[in-house]
Amino acid sequence: MADRPQLHIDGQILDLPLIVGSENERGLDISSLRTKTGTVTLDPGFMNTASTSSAITFLDGEKGILRYRGIPIEELAEKSTFVETSYLLIYGKLPSKPELENFSRLLTRHSLIHEDMKRFFDGYPGTAHPMAILSSMVVSLSSFYPEAVDIKNHEQIDITIGRLLAKVRTIAAFSYKKSIGQPFVYPKNSLSYCANFLNMMFSVPAEDYPVDEETVKALNLLLILHADHEQNCSTSTVRLVGSAQTNLFASISAGVCALWGPLHGGANQEVMEMLDEIHASGQPVDSFIARAKDKRSDFRLMGFGHRVYKNYDPRAKIIKAACDSILKKFGVKDPKLEIALRLEEVALSDDYFIERKLYPNVDFYSGIIYRALGIPTNMFTVMFALGRLPGWIAHWKEQIESPLARIGRPRQIYTGPTLNHYLPMDQRTG
Ligand code: CMC
Repeated sequence: MADRPQLHIDGQILDLPLIVGSENERGLDISSLRTKTGTVTLDPGFMNTASTSSAITFLDGEKGILRYRGIPIEELAEKSTFVETSYLLIYGKLPSKPELENFSRLLTRHSLIHEDMKRFFDGYPGTAHPMAILSSMVVSLSSFYPEAVDIKNHEQIDITIGRLLAKVRTIAAFSYKKSIGQPFVYPKNSLSYCANFLNMMFSVPAEDYPVDEETVKALNLLLILHADHEQNCSTSTVRLVGSAQTNLFASISAGVCALWGPLHGGANQEVMEMLDEIHASGQPVDSFIARAKDKRSDFRLMGFGHRVYKNYDPRAKIIKAACDSILKKFGVKDPKLEIALRLEEVALSDDYFIERKLYPNVDFYSGIIYRALGIPTNMFTVMFALGRLPGWIAHWKEQIESPLARIGRPRQIYTGPTLNHYLPMDQRTG
């Protein structure tokens, strides 16, 4: 590419400045295109469009690289905790000891939800999907903290961030308790972030729940791996909603809704249902691979493929390795792991998947670990949301702090009828 890329259009020459990121990713700045030429770009699914520049997460889909604030995901997975990684994503650096202590204290102190909110849970049918409950509860938080609605009130932002991280965990656990008809378990300040969540999920008033350190470790790992993934569908949603200067609670609630879709975070539930279906059918995995390749069928191999990764998803690599050791540690023999391993083996040696560079993604093995930890299938996407929360927050914060921030408002190419007049009812045909 020339050093000064140019666009020739209608006899005009337009300079398109080349923007180069810190990892040498290159983008053409087309911000003056429409003003100068009356033309816009069309890019369905944003296959070629960078919606923003961002300093939070680097992802190289060809090489299978993922880094938060420059730190490889492999290092964070091995050495960090979810709370520390959240701080890193949101505030841009690893915390010092006192910073981490303060941040942890903030998350501990704000973990209760208002008693009135508890009654909201009674309004949902027992069959309600926990993602529906989660999204409405998150936006409802804004009614209890109206001061957070004014996003220009900068003093409020840190406390709102703390409240969100602390309370989403409580809401998630309460929605599970509601779904199984057990009493809510309040947060316990003596427990760490993940231990507190597990205690709220699994303890009952009749019996103590000894929080197992291996389970806490596994949960930390899964949440870290989900914590950010740059401009994915839900994060772009959070940014777009936030670009209207919408408060953090409402923006995150929109992100929860976007995540729910089966092509995005909802895939982890779909993977487990697919593995259950394969197991129950007793059919060899090859027949499911054949269905996934058949263009007349709408069946896809869930947990496979990714818009950005054209190589093994580094998160899936870590989860796959953890899966085996966690199942062994818990003494769980899950035939779904065998099925998943076989599916992967068959798919990765099949031309259809090779040509399209379809590899297992983060959702392929995560459900097997969640299930080993006792988390039910319909809570899997909620777990993803809990993990993705610091990423969403970091992007919302980065955007509102940017001097370049403007409301997100894409253009379109109109393809509907040209001028057409209103017909009275008695003159309409058909
Ligand atoms: N099974 C079978 N074929 C597939 C699959 C799959 N899982 N994924 C993609 N393909 C085929 C697709 O049919 C298309 O084939 P062709 O070129 O012949 O038309 C080709 O591969 C390219 O697929 P695409 O749908 O154009 O790719 P995309 O970048 O628009 O979609 C995706 C990416 C993740 C939505 C897609 O791979 C998919 O539906 N995967 C299954 C759902 C899933 O696991 N989602 C979780 C993604 S990772 C976590 C997250 O981001 O939340």
